[in-house]
Amino acid sequence: MIRLIVALGALLLTVPAVAEPIRISSPEAVLTVSVDVTAEGRPEYSVSRLGTPVIEPSRLGFILTDAPKLERGFKVAEAGRRSADERWEQPWGERRFVRNRYSELRVSFTENAAPNRRIDVVFRVFDDGIGFRYEFPQQASLPQVNIGEEITEFAFAQPATAWWIPAFQWNREEYLYNKTQLTEVGVAQTPMTVRSEDGLHVAIHEAALVDYSGMQLQNEGNRRFRAVLTPSSTGAKVRRIAPFATPWRTLQIADSAAGLVMNDLILNLNEPNKLGDVSWVEPFKYVGVWWAMHLDKETWGPGPRHGANTANVKRYIDFAAKHGFRGVLVEGWNEGWNDDWFANGADFSFTKSYPDFDIEEVARYARSKGVRLIGHHETAGNIAVYEPQLEPALDLYKRLGIDAVKTGYVADMGGVRARGEDGKISFEWHEGQLMSRHHLKVVTEAAERQIAINPHEPIKDTGLRRTYPNWVSREGARGMEFNAWGQPPNPPEHEANLVFTRMLAGPMDFTPGILSLQGKGQPIQSTMAKQLALYVVIYSPIQMAADLIENYEQNMAPFQFIKDVPADWSETRVLNGEVGDFVTIARKDRKSESWYLGAVTDEEGRVLPVSLSFLTPGKRYRAQIYRDGPNAHYRSNGKSIVIEERSVTSADTLNLKLAPGGGQAIRFTTGRR
Ligand code: NOJ
Ligand code: CA
Repeated sequence: MIRLIVALGALLLTVPAVAEPIRISSPEAVLTVSVDVTAEGRPEYSVSRLGTPVIEPSRLGFILTDAPKLERGFKVAEAGRRSADERWEQPWGERRFVRNRYSELRVSFTENAAPNRRIDVVFRVFDDGIGFRYEFPQQASLPQVNIGEEITEFAFAQPATAWWIPAFQWNREEYLYNKTQLTEVGVAQTPMTVRSEDGLHVAIHEAALVDYSGMQLQNEGNRRFRAVLTPSSTGAKVRRIAPFATPWRTLQIADSAAGLVMNDLILNLNEPNKLGDVSWVEPFKYVGVWWAMHLDKETWGPGPRHGANTANVKRYIDFAAKHGFRGVLVEGWNEGWNDDWFANGADFSFTKSYPDFDIEEVARYARSKGVRLIGHHETAGNIAVYEPQLEPALDLYKRLGIDAVKTGYVADMGGVRARGEDGKISFEWHEGQLMSRHHLKVVTEAAERQIAINPHEPIKDTGLRRTYPNWVSREGARGMEFNAWGQPPNPPEHEANLVFTRMLAGPMDFTPGILSLQGKGQPIQSTMAKQLALYVVIYSPIQMAADLIENYEQNMAPFQFIKDVPADWSETRVLNGEVGDFVTIARKDRKSESWYLGAVTDEEGRVLPVSLSFLTPGKRYRAQIYRDGPNAHYRSNGKSIVIEERSVTSADTLNLKLAPGGGQAIRFTTGRR
């Protein structure tokens, strides 16, 4: 980690209850947080931006399952202020260097009556957002904290439009985004993104979800939202021994949609890398035995169409080696994919491969071709079966030279099977405290073996990749697979929604690049150029070229962009965008002087003027442009694509013409290729 500028000022004072609210402003005084208690001693905070209210007084506190609630009868005391301005380096990411600059305020709330229990709230105020968390100190009156509910509120000051997906539904995070008035939101997952009538954008989420339950947002009416924690089978939603801190509750605040994305608040609120040297975590692109199963051309389970057979996987290895892909994902290789695997996952073995898949031979073949297999642990949400096998399963992969594993938790929300200390099976939630522990167990066991992890049906991303850089990506939204199944397929606006909602949380293994534009039966609602643009627009350090080999072989010219585009960046610029409508992102390759641009739109065609001022001035670049053809349309003519070259400099402006449901991808290089 490189620290270039570090300015830490610490001031510790304890003052008696004050009549005036305690205030703290961000370094450039853009945002101000006020903290106070009401006449009944209820803790509250509010947020304003350049003097305009953003969050009106909103409550703080807890309901406990076995003790009186921590909610009123408090006095408030300022317990410390500090500020920081540092720069740290990401081992991989959207940008190499991240600035972490904030003002911090710690406030102690102490009950007026015996036993005078205390909780602290720490606010970090950045110019583009705030984070706050509760800290439970060690105290005789509350040694073990059993949380029934958190009463953190977010009372929006202005009428607004909201983009959100429902919480606590069976299909976890895999829903299409709703766009409604803020007042029409039900119970929402985070990130929830809100745009007020004056154009201010606010996204609520959380950072550093460790040993705690995930936060959802309940509409309480009058633009007031309250945290609802994800349930647990044990009654209390969170059980912890003090001292401990909760995850950070975050508000990203910007006056444009692009500003929300150009925001490192969530990473900054996570702890630095705990794994030491992580040079073994390599961003990469991969192909694999995957889309064919979703199209029902092959099967996960054994039989005449079994996808993970030795010959078929070797075919993928040959293709990967020929076209420069590092990874080959193999799903359905292990025993247990019976007809009913997603009913309970009871039969999965994570060390025994099916007889027609010679794992030793395939791994040897991959190594000989300079390709890495990517492991797969589908658990069907049965962690009672998975956890006892975790270590031997990872040992096997380590021995075979497999250094990335996709995990999967296909089970209805609330249907995760876990074994309690009493040996009994309980049903848990994908975002409950138990699963926050489970995922970190998998990630840290994998790190010991230098293996990267990519969970599907995961717990939400809260920036833990900073602390555990082998947690490279995850699903956690509706991905490409819905375009295979079509129930319904993803609409053209989907990716322009994701960028400003789900993607604020972190990387997504969306699995783009279906150049056939064909699902099982129904077409995909996209143009070919848009499939290419997704490699730049939807960030992940691991990117799949998800289509069948034969579909790439039939489309070698556009496939060239997928071969060229990197998965690791030194800089990222969001050039334009509106939530759910369109977005253009430019990123600079981490390993060269090349830039890549991706633009996507919803069902409307658009012309987006884009200044190339992000390019280095004075240099001439070769722009390889992959754009929608003149009559391209996601409904009828998605494959119409024009591939052309231009010579450009940073002084140029391009008018990106996007077809309805379309996109554009551009590679800017300074050398010959
Ligand atoms: C759902 C995942 O999202 C998908 O990628 C995977 O192929 C299936 N589960 C089977 O594990
Ligand atoms: Ca999924």
